[in-house]
Amino acid sequence: MSIHGGNIIATAKELSCSVTDLIDMSSNLTPLGMVPGLNESLVAGLNEISYLPEMDSETLRRIFARKYDLKEDEVFVGNGTTEFIFALPTAFAGNRAIIVNPTYSDYRLACKWANVSVTDFNLILEEDFLLDLDRLAGEFRGGELVFICNPNNPTGRLIDNNFLYKLITDNADTFFLVDESYLPFTREKSLLEYDLPANLFILCSSSKIYGIPGLRLGFLVARSENLRKFSGQRKPWGVNRMAQLAGEYLLQHGDDYVEEVRCFLESERPPFVQALAELKDIHVIEGRANFILCYLKGVLLAPVVREKLLEKRIMIRNCVTFDGLNDHYFRMSLKGSKGNMLCLDALREIL
Ligand SMILES: Cc1ncc(COP(=O)(O)O)c(C=O)c1O
Repeated sequence: MSIHGGNIIATAKELSCSVTDLIDMSSNLTPLGMVPGLNESLVAGLNEISYLPEMDSETLRRIFARKYDLKEDEVFVGNGTTEFIFALPTAFAGNRAIIVNPTYSDYRLACKWANVSVTDFNLILEEDFLLDLDRLAGEFRGGELVFICNPNNPTGRLIDNNFLYKLITDNADTFFLVDESYLPFTREKSLLEYDLPANLFILCSSSKIYGIPGLRLGFLVARSENLRKFSGQRKPWGVNRMAQLAGEYLLQHGDDYVEEVRCFLESERPPFVQALAELKDIHVIEGRANFILCYLKGVLLAPVVREKLLEKRIMIRNCVTFDGLNDHYFRMSLKGSKGNMLCLDALREIL
């Protein structure tokens, strides 16, 4: 089963409260809420649900391709990036995948469903979960699919894309799936800005940065010959009309919002991390995304901290379900200033 944070509707039901009473730091969504104008644009397009959506999201593909200087047939639009995470192992893993742990758990599930065996490459707390790309390259035999999440969920560690690009182009016999779902929260240059190598797949999720996980919208970028290999297995109308319209709006009008999110995180994150680090028994992993991984050094474990925060209507992610982590770890995403302050106050009481 797929295990995720952000189960806000179910949690609200469980606590008999409204979703708006909860501060959800368990899912890694933008701290700034809805993109200005998106709501109005969706309401204006609502009558279009009376028609079938564009079969292949042609308009959205064209806008995305133009924006990132790609060819239209190098872009697929999907029902969230999840669609591609589950489609790729069957088409491209040969019979082996490499997963850099700890990371997003659906990569493993997708390999399991595709009957692809997984070689684990484990990062450790003692090295602050830093990935040594040369050591990783030592695992390559050719023909495998390597999953890399950059910045990584849940550690937030970011790999310099100049080095990652070199790794990819130096290892042409290995396929790389690079998940950039959280890259827009940083100022790191995307792999979309480099010439597209034949062995690279790039995932771009709209869920996190624009805060629209309920619409299900994501992109896959790869050479057209690679996309053609599994285009025959894609369902028609896989992306609903509202998601298509949202994507069209966001790609054309969302840049100022993304900039605002980055500026907000740049001012909010350092004092939040500093305050966390001053708490008893917490070690903060030095990540760069909109979320923060914490290690509890004392006797209090993450499930207990989670429960106590839940009493205060604050949701965090217990990281016990991530391979390579245990119940000493929890993850929190930054929210608005008020929510962050409430969380810090609550943690001060608990720890
Ligand atoms: C690293 C990572 N990739 C992909 C996804 C799936 O996102 P989407 O909503 O685009 O399917 C998630 C969701 O949590 C994620 O954390």
